[in-house]
Amino acid sequence: MSNRVVAVVPAAGRGARMGGNIPKQFLSLGDIPILAYALRTLESVQSITDIIVVIPQADQDYCREDIIERCGIRKVTDIVSGGPRRQDSVRNGLMAITETPALVVVHDGVRPFVSKKIVTNAVHVAMESGAALVAIPMKDTVKRVNQQGYVEGTLNREELWLAQTPQVFRYSWLMEAHQLAEAKNLEVTDDAGMIEQLGYPISIVEGSAHNIKITRPEDLALGEAILSCQKLEGGE
Ligand code: C5P
Repeated sequence: MSNRVVAVVPAAGRGARMGGNIPKQFLSLGDIPILAYALRTLESVQSITDIIVVIPQADQDYCREDIIERCGIRKVTDIVSGGPRRQDSVRNGLMAITETPALVVVHDGVRPFVSKKIVTNAVHVAMESGAALVAIPMKDTVKRVNQQGYVEGTLNREELWLAQTPQVFRYSWLMEAHQLAEAKNLEVTDDAGMIEQLGYPISIVEGSAHNIKITRPEDLALGEAILSCQKLEGGE
């Protein structure tokens, strides 16, 4: 069996929630763009052989020159254009895979603080079980609220986990899942959502509260705080 492990990094969102003209994945955090952090970490994981970055068509040259080359990322084998939804962008990334890998690691380009250890664990678990989802246990109490704004109930916190990325899957499972999503017109916000539809088991790998998704302007300030924290700790 192939020992290739391909990382697909969807980073083609327009960042509407962030406001402004620059997509959030290209905003600077510390002294480099947000996307560069995730690429550096994926690059450092030994088992990952190739990285495919999915970005808006118009930003391809910028991404190649100012992020990938400037940060010395050498495992990027392709830069492809995104689609209207995240799942379309991931699919475009999958379509660019040329040699069948064992696993695909899907990681959001706007999650800069995932650690090498978490990615390595997720790859290891998926190698054994076929699918690994990085997630953290729910700390807050979660309510189900109806459209009129009234509470309908309280969910059992013990059973709730917040999904993060990376999410790592056997290549054949992920391809099957994307084909099913296309055939059945499924709308999902993560890849595990598609694998669930097929009924394949997905193992949980514990993530980190630092592994935030930078979506809104206030997340940037949080990102700067996490960055300072990591500098003090000497990196994760
Ligand atoms: O905010 P959201 O969960 O949609 O974004 C998660 C990741 O998916 C981000 O890195 C974003 O750039 C990417 N994305 C994409 N193509 C889209 C929408 C989101 O690559 N059409």
